[in-house]
Amino acid sequence: MELLGYYLPYGLEWMNLLVRWLHVITGIAWIGASFYFVWLDNSLRPPAPGSDLAQKGVSGELWAVHGGGFYNPQKYMAAPAQLPKELHWFKWEAYSTWLSGFALLTIVYYFNAQAMMVDRGVADLSSWQAIGVGLASLVVGWIVYDLLCRSKLGKHDLAFGAVVYLLLVGAAWVLTHFLSGRAAYIHVGAMIGTIMVANVAMVIIPGQRKMVNEMVAGRKPDPIYGIRGKQRSVHNNYFTLPVLFIMISNHFAMTYRHDHAWLVLAAIMLAGVFIRHFFNLRHKGRIAWKYPAIGVAILLATMVALLPPPPGFAGNRAASAPSSAAQFAAVRTIIDQRCVSCHAAHPTQPGFATAPAGVALDDVHGIGQNAARIYQQAVQLKAMPLANLTNMTDAERAQVAAWFESGAKTN
Ligand code: HEC
Repeated sequence: MELLGYYLPYGLEWMNLLVRWLHVITGIAWIGASFYFVWLDNSLRPPAPGSDLAQKGVSGELWAVHGGGFYNPQKYMAAPAQLPKELHWFKWEAYSTWLSGFALLTIVYYFNAQAMMVDRGVADLSSWQAIGVGLASLVVGWIVYDLLCRSKLGKHDLAFGAVVYLLLVGAAWVLTHFLSGRAAYIHVGAMIGTIMVANVAMVIIPGQRKMVNEMVAGRKPDPIYGIRGKQRSVHNNYFTLPVLFIMISNHFAMTYRHDHAWLVLAAIMLAGVFIRHFFNLRHKGRIAWKYPAIGVAILLATMVALLPPPPGFAGNRAASAPSSAAQFAAVRTIIDQRCVSCHAAHPTQPGFATAPAGVALDDVHGIGQNAARIYQQAVQLKAMPLANLTNMTDAERAQVAAWFESGAKTN
């Protein structure tokens, strides 16, 4: 039993690796196919009126060259006169992305909720409460979004987009008041991802299935299914850049550890939407540089707004400067108390199998080598200790700052 407790974190680390790998692969397959079809749809040109193609019911076609061959995709609106024998569906890319993503969320966050989701500086939740908040956000997100799509608002793309954006920012605000910044971010991402996959599973695919069934029964399919599917697929298209940022956001404590992390997220998501819009227009043959310009301006403004305080700002310079040896001894004690439970070759913190991010601070060498990262994570960003699990004080951060700013000497 004890041995299980010892090897479980190691096993989870491998699960993390393998499922993350899978998630990235399926995500590329899904978003890649989705980008391709959006491009295809926007690039189709109608055939000449009265031509054979037009008479066959083709509404648009294009020519492309790729991988040593020529391709000539044609789109039928709403459907070809006869159902082809073999019809390719695109759904498992989406489903497997969600399944692997949810598994990863469970492995990384739910199995280690105290360290990964709870920030007692934000809300003193139990593990189950934190997990409950996370799961509820996914379910509520989909219900609210789906109802909005079916309402009158759903017919006005721009107004709908603005409302959904504001609701997502609201969700980020709420979540950052319950969970640690990184858990709040990843749940906004999971919420958007869930909406995207549910759009495929609950609206787009069932609609396509009804169209096919009607054709099999010899009837002309009702175009409403196509229209509904298209609405969801347009939304999914604008969700892609924000959701992909969130999936990598956990590497960037400067975003999710900010005092107004929800606002940082709002800015970066908006930049993503503007940039995506540029590409959508471009595929249709319109170049509108103002959109990426706005996107980049938002990103630059965010970058400036998040600028860390200059050196000396965080440190309280001691009146009588201690000797560098005394200064390092004090810092070493702080690191031993606040960091080493996780950052050691063999961590004692439950749930950790190896030194996180490869940063081991249990010897002088490791501290010296990682001095700049220690300063960045523990002083500038206050991202470490993770969720301040080990209760590092501001005075201790100031001591680390003073040590680093006077040369980070280790003797
Ligand atoms: C509860 C466990 C825990 C404690 C305590 C902890 N850390 Fe970390 N630390 C982590 C985890 C997990 C990561 C990896 C984060 C990631 O994947 O982005 C990490 C990453 C880091 C990194 C690398 C960040 C990067 O992306 O470059 C540094 C540096 C770091 N911690 C320093 C510290 C310092 C200094 C302390 C003590 C003041 C500390 N940590 C305390 C869990 C912890």
